[in-house]
Amino acid sequence: MHVELEHVGHRFNRSAWLFRDLSLSLHPDRLYALTGPSGSGKSTLLSIVSGHVSPAVGWVRRIGVSRVQWVFQNPFGDPRRSVLDLVCLPLLSLGMPRRDARIAAATLLDEFGLAEHAMSRFSTLSGGQAQRLMLARAISAQPDLLLVDEPTAQLDSQTAETVIGALGRLVSRGAIVVVATHDERTVRACTDSIELMRSTR
Ligand SMILES: Nc1ncnc2c1ncn2[C@@H]1O[C@H](COP(=O)(O)OP(=O)(O)OP(=O)(O)O)[C@@H](O)[C@H]1O
Ligand SMILES: [Mg+2]
Repeated sequence: MHVELEHVGHRFNRSAWLFRDLSLSLHPDRLYALTGPSGSGKSTLLSIVSGHVSPAVGWVRRIGVSRVQWVFQNPFGDPRRSVLDLVCLPLLSLGMPRRDARIAAATLLDEFGLAEHAMSRFSTLSGGQAQRLMLARAISAQPDLLLVDEPTAQLDSQTAETVIGALGRLVSRGAIVVVATHDERTVRACTDSIELMRSTR
């Protein structure tokens, strides 16, 4: 399993190129930091790697990748659903029995420091809690390829360590993980880095 980008470039309409001629391979067991100044195109590149956006030029090939999860920079979810439900749903859709799904979801929530909010509605969470929940949910879907946008931006250093640890565990189970981040500590925890430059517009 791997992801290949060949001569990928992107710009919106006729604006300046965000990035051009980007060729790289993404492999399992690696944790990639995607860095670059605000507006350099990190979130855009994640949307291209995930397959939701086609690059203006170049090719992206996801070889042997069957499950892709993308955790957005700004979390959103059904405001009325409980935290536990939101993490259970991907497990149920993988065919796990309800009882087992609830146990697995509760374990994940505990890992992300959200156990005490299991029965809360999504709308009552803080920004950092909501983003951790979206990450827990994405991990519960057992992705081969996980793209995470600024997972530690809203977190204190101890909670950020928890999130980085969870990403590391997913990587060690054979996933490809790419993290767009401005956070130096997160960059240091990654095994590889992909750096975008400031746009020339
Ligand atoms: N759908 C869109 N249509 C037009 N322009 C867009 C669209 N999405 C992003 N852009 C522009 O592309 C540029 C790159 O945006 P992007 O969100 O990828 O940057 P980023 O590196 O993730 O920034 P940040 O660090 O602030 O999250 C920005 O100038 C943005 O305004
Ligand atoms: Mg972004």
